[in-house]
Amino acid sequence: HVIGIDLGTSAVKLLLVSKAGDVELEVSKPYPLIQEKSGYSEQDPAQWVVQTIEGLTEVMDQFKGEPDQIEGISFSGQMHGLVLLGESNEILRPAILWNDTRTTKECLEIEQLVGAKKLLEITRNPTLEGFTLPKLLWVKNNEPELFSKAKTFLLPKDYLRFALTGKLHSEYSDAGGTLLLDIKNHCWSTEICEKVGIDSNICPPLVESHALVGHLTKEVARQTGLSINTKVFAGGADNACGALGAGIVSAEDTLVSIGTSGVVLAYEKTKDVNVDGKVHFFHHAMPHAFYKMGVTLSAGYSLSWFKQTFAPDVPFDQIVNEAGARKPGANGLLFTPYLTGERTPHGDSSIRASFIGVSSTHSRADFVRAVLEGITFSLRDSLDLFREQGTPVHRIVSIGGGAKSKVWLQMQADIFNAPVVKQANDQGPGMGAAMLAAYGVGWFKGLDECAALFIKEETVYEPEQTQVQQYEELYQLYRQVYEQTKQLN
Ligand code: XUL
Repeated sequence: HVIGIDLGTSAVKLLLVSKAGDVELEVSKPYPLIQEKSGYSEQDPAQWVVQTIEGLTEVMDQFKGEPDQIEGISFSGQMHGLVLLGESNEILRPAILWNDTRTTKECLEIEQLVGAKKLLEITRNPTLEGFTLPKLLWVKNNEPELFSKAKTFLLPKDYLRFALTGKLHSEYSDAGGTLLLDIKNHCWSTEICEKVGIDSNICPPLVESHALVGHLTKEVARQTGLSINTKVFAGGADNACGALGAGIVSAEDTLVSIGTSGVVLAYEKTKDVNVDGKVHFFHHAMPHAFYKMGVTLSAGYSLSWFKQTFAPDVPFDQIVNEAGARKPGANGLLFTPYLTGERTPHGDSSIRASFIGVSSTHSRADFVRAVLEGITFSLRDSLDLFREQGTPVHRIVSIGGGAKSKVWLQMQADIFNAPVVKQANDQGPGMGAAMLAAYGVGWFKGLDECAALFIKEETVYEPEQTQVQQYEELYQLYRQVYEQTKQLN
């Protein structure tokens, strides 16, 4: 057996997976977001560790075999978040997360110091508020005393792995999201560090996603019931692991993942592609593989925000099913999901969301329908960018919250105008993490071989032409809302 741990934004999810790829146990442990001001989003890294240890203990309590039969553990995690450690590897402040957009000033500073063209050349990415380097500069500018104590920065799942093993590492798939990785030379960019005035020693050593980094500490093994012989592998960024877990191991399929954020992702087999900074470009969690990606900041989050605010006691399934009974177009109600700003395609952290066309005849079901459609339109924006860049979209594998509802899966097929595949054992990024452990312990010769055994297709949702046409018209309206509401903020 292996365990895949996905350190998400709302919870840590643990999967116990057998050699045949069956998920035998699934445990989820939540933690809150700290949002002190609009645009701020933080979490306490200590809570990630406490909840993971509780989760692992629960897995071990239910596991029927011996601890040594858990051969490997690996990780997937929310990207970009900044964890700062001091001299004795103590946490210096709460982690600043991927959906925190306080760093607009620092983004401009970085572009001035390094140059936007140079940054794109070295990192293959645009300068965005959510990335890690702007967060490092924000702490340097706003909390200088605290920053002077910083010895190492880590990404969220790298901190979790450190807490479980005592070993400090970063790995390539997550490192790409820092704006500090030199993609061409496969190392941290000392040039960027120098230009922005950050000591490059703050960057932890880099390893590949399937690299063996060590074993659990005796204390963690004692607390959880796991064995100190269990091997711990580095793991990957949640989107890389989501792609792996969905079988995106070649350029055949495109991925749409709707979690707190939403992403559209396409495999790239080389780093020598023309990037224009409109989409992100990162290392995959497989050796010598890459992907490009567009991101909607508030995808599943828009739905959970709506539910929390207006229907806290009604289950998700129920509100989504109510919405499913409404026709495409939500009776004239249109939603843009910019609750915390937007990344792709607008790269605008100050835009905010809107409901347009509200009528006294609308009910909750229309609002939920509009939210689902708005999230999906926003993902369509990224998909259209891919198509414009010449990346073909044959089929889309949908994972995450968006793949849990038939209504939403059909909506995706109709709005994307492409077949949408739902997998039988869709477990999102946690499955990708488990696959890295399965490959690491030597069960397979390659991750593609592992994917062929572990991933099973279930249903394909074909686009229905009448709805495709209706949505096409609505999407053209949706696209105008950004420009028209920009001035409000
Ligand atoms: C990707 C991104 C999000 C997080 C969510 O660039 O910021 O998808 O990885 O966990």
